[in-house]
Amino acid sequence: MNDKIINITLTRRKLTEILIGLVGLFLTSGVVAAILKYLWPQTAKKGETSEIKIASVDEVPPGSAKKFSFNGKASVLLHMPAGFRAFGAVCTHLGCIAYWKPDENIIYCPCHIGKYDPNTGAVISGPPPSPLPAIDIIVKEGAVYALNWKDPNYVKTISFYAGAA
Ligand code: FES
Repeated sequence: MNDKIINITLTRRKLTEILIGLVGLFLTSGVVAAILKYLWPQTAKKGETSEIKIASVDEVPPGSAKKFSFNGKASVLLHMPAGFRAFGAVCTHLGCIAYWKPDENIIYCPCHIGKYDPNTGAVISGPPPSPLPAIDIIVKEGAVYALNWKDPNYVKTISFYAGAA
């Protein structure tokens, strides 16, 4: 009988301790996971590519664009006269999202009027210090696939930048 009374008292205390421990573990693991993801962003290993379907060719007729996300970064696929191009759309100035502006044939950042060449990603005018990061793509079987960032250091750079902002 005494065992049962002791058990109930200990069970409540234990249950409280376990619940507090689980909540603490849950919160701590989320913070640790976020820190690890920040320190070691996922990048394709050298020579390793993964094909991520962006769009079917019919979806993006010549002169048009499609927004998509690549490795968690806002990106844009453009169908130029010379073929498909894909770039990260995070402006290299202060991180606003740039977009395709067909009437001016540019990729445009509205925050400080940054303008990029839609064929190369190069800066045309405005404060951006560097080109938009290009994404290697492949067109096959009627669809466009993203492979990897042309500059493998881009993800590390933008992660650092995002953390510093
Ligand atoms: S953030 Fe794009 S031009 Fe400033």
